[in-house]
Amino acid sequence: MTTTTLTTTKAEASSRVGICGSGITKAHIEGYQKLPGVEVVAIAGPDVERCQAVADQYGIPRVFADYRAMLELGLDAVSVGVPNKYHAPITIDALAAGCHVLLEKPLAIDVADGERIVAAARESDRVVMLAFNRRYLANAVTLKEFIDAGTLGDIYYAKTGWTRRAGIPGFGGWFTTRSLSGGGPLIDLGVHMLDLALYMMGYPRPISVSGATYAALGPRGKGHSDYADYTRFPGGAPEVVFDVEDLATGFVRFEGGATLTVEASWAGYQPLRDDIYLQLYGREGGARISMPDYQEADSLRLVTESAGMLVEVAPVLPKVGRGGYAHEVALFVDSIRTGAPPPATAAQGLTVLRVIDALYRSAEAGREIEIAI
Ligand SMILES: NC(=O)c1ccc[n+]([C@@H]2O[C@H](COP(=O)([O-])OP(=O)(O)OC[C@H]3O[C@@H](n4cnc5c(N)ncnc54)[C@H](O)[C@@H]3O)[C@@H](O)[C@H]2O)c1
Repeated sequence: MTTTTLTTTKAEASSRVGICGSGITKAHIEGYQKLPGVEVVAIAGPDVERCQAVADQYGIPRVFADYRAMLELGLDAVSVGVPNKYHAPITIDALAAGCHVLLEKPLAIDVADGERIVAAARESDRVVMLAFNRRYLANAVTLKEFIDAGTLGDIYYAKTGWTRRAGIPGFGGWFTTRSLSGGGPLIDLGVHMLDLALYMMGYPRPISVSGATYAALGPRGKGHSDYADYTRFPGGAPEVVFDVEDLATGFVRFEGGATLTVEASWAGYQPLRDDIYLQLYGREGGARISMPDYQEADSLRLVTESAGMLVEVAPVLPKVGRGGYAHEVALFVDSIRTGAPPPATAAQGLTVLRVIDALYRSAEAGREIEIAI
């Protein structure tokens, strides 16, 4: 696994890290705290009580209600894991304060904000890395090595998806409110799978898309992640605030002729709770990552030819920690220390965001949309 080769050593000066947000950022904190010479010194968020609880859990000395006060500490780096609407302002402020930034997906709430982040990253000499953690799962790391070794040859078609039976992350929070999230499962889950597919395909340039979106269950209070049963809500149905899609599907054309289909949902009548997959078709071979209900064991298969026969390859996967988060954080710190570009850049995040934005516009217009870059 070449991507685990880190240059971080105990001898290096301590890096002081601040955390924006108290949700998924716990996975970042656990990653930082595994690394020698890295100290998580503060956490910030308007939900001060939850931030304090995280600080107590991980022994973080300072808690701030406003991230701007935290940035005055003169930090080396920050992790940003906040509602999508705040990705751009916080990342741009952090860069202006001289910090490197590990930013949660999606890059931003929309293309305009994404372009502002890319411009700010270019103008600074700081690292901005997108938290596309699914690249660092054992199946993805291994598949990329097979692709780099030429096993698949030129990849001309990909199909990918992350569909849930009942996974709406609350009714009325920021996830289901478009003005805060930018959309539903396509920008939340589809963003991961689009990045993974593009990463494996060598990030070809998307030129047009055709998409459709649905909101068949969410607006009726069905498909909440806390209630596996669609029909009964203990204590009555929660108040439903839901102005995003609950299922999206799309078709993407790339420069050079490759194509991709994508589907993402938070709710839908399907047998699996979570169906997570990426299938690639190359001229020399194919591959499928399949993670029904998050199962990581035995999740990669390749099909190719050997000795004139069709063969299936089931690689023995290396051990990588939960969700790939610790590995992601280690790569971020490594990029800061070596000056090498981070593995997932803001520019790649913007390419994915352009696809998502075009899919939403196509769904609304009911026709194919070209992507102008
Ligand atoms: N890579 C992954 O696996 C993964 C998983 C979950 C979430 N995420 C991403 O992480 C981000 C946060 O998601 P979450 O699940 O932790 O959400 P959350 O609602 O659990 O936490 C969001 C946090 O943002 C902070 N916040 C809220 N409003 C803010 C504001 N106005 N200014 C500054 N901070 C504010 C709060 O501290 C809050 O705790 C989102 O962008 C989401 O897409 C990524």
